[in-house]
Amino acid sequence: VKAAVFASGTGSNFAAIMESEELDCDIVLLVCDKQEASVLEKAEKYNVPAFVFNPKDFSSKADYENEIIAKLQEAGVTWIFLAGYMRIVGPTLLQTFDRKIVNIHPSLLPAFPGVDAIGQAYKAGAKTTGVTVHFIDAGIDTGPIIAQESLDIHSDDTEETLKQRIQKIEHELYPRVINQLLYR
Ligand code: GRF
Repeated sequence: VKAAVFASGTGSNFAAIMESEELDCDIVLLVCDKQEASVLEKAEKYNVPAFVFNPKDFSSKADYENEIIAKLQEAGVTWIFLAGYMRIVGPTLLQTFDRKIVNIHPSLLPAFPGVDAIGQAYKAGAKTTGVTVHFIDAGIDTGPIIAQESLDIHSDDTEETLKQRIQKIEHELYPRVINQLLYR
């Protein structure tokens, strides 16, 4: 199976996917919307070709998504894994990769969707939060849930320690769930 990862930032989840020994799938393309994102250095390290685009160079979301689709098809990609991709996926990509686009989100959805989910949970004083892997639909973090893992927020947690513990769960959960999805 050939897949692409979409990321806008650090790419620790991308790295976890690349480092996973059990993952039985080829990541053949990284799609990134930010020229300066450090995930691009990681793509280089793992020898994964990157398609970097600037949305401002296109007149519409459909335009840049069509460009992305051309790159994906050229590379033979059938699955897309979002890992910190900070854009709403539009109908163009959704229709072409129906039920083949998966995201990871650092909360127990439907709680705390959108940006800074870890900070949202922390500031709300939640006692429990977690990680969700889900299919993408037209909403923000609303698609059908595939897997979740929870963790307790300790009274001595800071936002930073909470983030570290959540990321540790993400890096283990995402590759495992991807495998289950591809070979069920
Ligand atoms: C992760 O917390 C992921 O759940 C969210 O964005 C973050 C990306 O982190 N969607 P990284 O770039 O993989 O380090």
